[in-house]
Amino acid sequence: MNLFISRSKLIAKSILILQLSVFSVTAEQITQSAVAMPDAFSAQAAKSILEQGGNAVDAAITAQFVLAVTLPEAGNIGGGGFMLIHKDGQGDFIDYRETAPNAAHRDMYLDEQDEVIANKSIYGIHASGVPGSVAGMWLAHKKHGTLAWKTLLQPAVTLAEQGFVVPPKLAQQITQYITELKNNDIDVNFGDYFATATANKVFKQPQLATTLKRIRDEGQDGFYKGETANIIAKFIHQHGGIINQDDLKNYTAKSRTPITANWNGYQVLTSPPPSSGGIAILQWLKMYELQKPSTGLVHNSTQYIHLLAEIGKRVFADRAEYLGDPDFYTVPVNALTNIDYLKKRSNDISLTTITSTESINPGLHESEQTTHFSIVDKMGNAVANTTTINLPFGSGVVVEGAGFILNNEMDDFSAKPGVMNVFGAIGGKANEIQPHKRMLSSMTPTILLKNNTVKMVTGSPGGTTIISSVYESILNAVEFNMSADEVVNSPRFHHQLWPKNVIRAHSGLESSVKAQLIKMGYTLDERHFGDMHVIINNAGKLDAASEKTGRGVSSVF
Ligand code: GLY
Repeated sequence: MNLFISRSKLIAKSILILQLSVFSVTAEQITQSAVAMPDAFSAQAAKSILEQGGNAVDAAITAQFVLAVTLPEAGNIGGGGFMLIHKDGQGDFIDYRETAPNAAHRDMYLDEQDEVIANKSIYGIHASGVPGSVAGMWLAHKKHGTLAWKTLLQPAVTLAEQGFVVPPKLAQQITQYITELKNNDIDVNFGDYFATATANKVFKQPQLATTLKRIRDEGQDGFYKGETANIIAKFIHQHGGIINQDDLKNYTAKSRTPITANWNGYQVLTSPPPSSGGIAILQWLKMYELQKPSTGLVHNSTQYIHLLAEIGKRVFADRAEYLGDPDFYTVPVNALTNIDYLKKRSNDISLTTITSTESINPGLHESEQTTHFSIVDKMGNAVANTTTINLPFGSGVVVEGAGFILNNEMDDFSAKPGVMNVFGAIGGKANEIQPHKRMLSSMTPTILLKNNTVKMVTGSPGGTTIISSVYESILNAVEFNMSADEVVNSPRFHHQLWPKNVIRAHSGLESSVKAQLIKMGYTLDERHFGDMHVIINNAGKLDAASEKTGRGVSSVF
């Protein structure tokens, strides 16, 4: 089978090839390496680490720190994330999600009338959780790294100290964001810090370089204790925030067992809570298998989009009710992904009419900026890493003297039951604010295996749309036999119960499909989400791609 025939031909043939798949060949040994990264600096740095003999985890750690310098809208040391690892045949999940500070409480974003205070969890000093990224990288290094920590940190230190040439797209984003902060009178050091970040000019970050040097020389203590912790705590206190030195000192990254499930002949290795994404993509993929017609569906046809939107309603109703930090709330992972439950949950789906939004309740009765990268090394190890400060440029607060942006991840908690967060997600008790608790995430780094060999590494930014991007990337590859380039660049769509009957979709869906969806009763909200970076193992040959809309770079070597 020619695996690289055009997508239009593939769509025309999609019904015939449903029983075949891009991965139906026997899994073959990986002898190449590949990176699919959000920008050229991280791609170059990760490649260099792999060429020095480092493994995928080493390369991922270097990339994480480089992105903190060159991709300030999402790369970070002031945020958190998840790193899914398949190494030496074993899975691991490094949870470095931010936590609520000790002084946080359930109603901290409500006013005296119990109404959510607009923007308090989104902009400024009150929006941040305790950062987890440095502890996450340190834990990944201790458990899985092979090169020296200092070697892994040096590329980021050099880029911060000597500067990097600012890509025009980034310069434009920074200018827009400065205007937004100024218009709302909420600029906390962002405008000053990025004042000299100009398109095509070198931008140096000496404060960040000093912070990174402390991390390079002292490990995670270089961030959570000593000078850096002093600077952070003092700055936050001066501006009226609540994160203090004890919060920093007590932050712990965790190694968790990834969720694994069999689907369509593959082993899906994916993200456990506090990610909502692993459970959600399994629900989505399994309900799709249960409810698709035996003749299959044409990719991005009206029926295909409608079926997946109907499934999305049910997935997001469950997400709102049952998902939260597993250290604080018992998440019924097995019940939610059980096939009998999913049969019952999806049996009332009609392929032609929309189920009313109000009738979809949680089924059991007994989250737009983030960044993702995928790396495979020539030993066959893989890393899918999604990291975030939540919205582009996080809280907008740059820690003076330390040179990094603080996240606005507190908005991923449910500030009040039933009230939407910035991504339109609702939640209740499972995701209410409690001290030290991790806020629910949609980040879904995922690895597909066959015979324990890596076949696909995927993940995406995009708040709650992450979940749709990830399961659609898997369907694109497995069900529709697409190349990595086609997987990341074909239009995607997303439905999450609320807003009612709204499908968010990339531009590029067929006009007739859009017209039919509108006739059925959907409203289309056309916008871009995600910036995917995917690697596929195609019978031993790696195929890597970064979505064209971003600044991403991928390579196989
Ligand atoms: N901040 C986006 C997410 O974690 O879902």
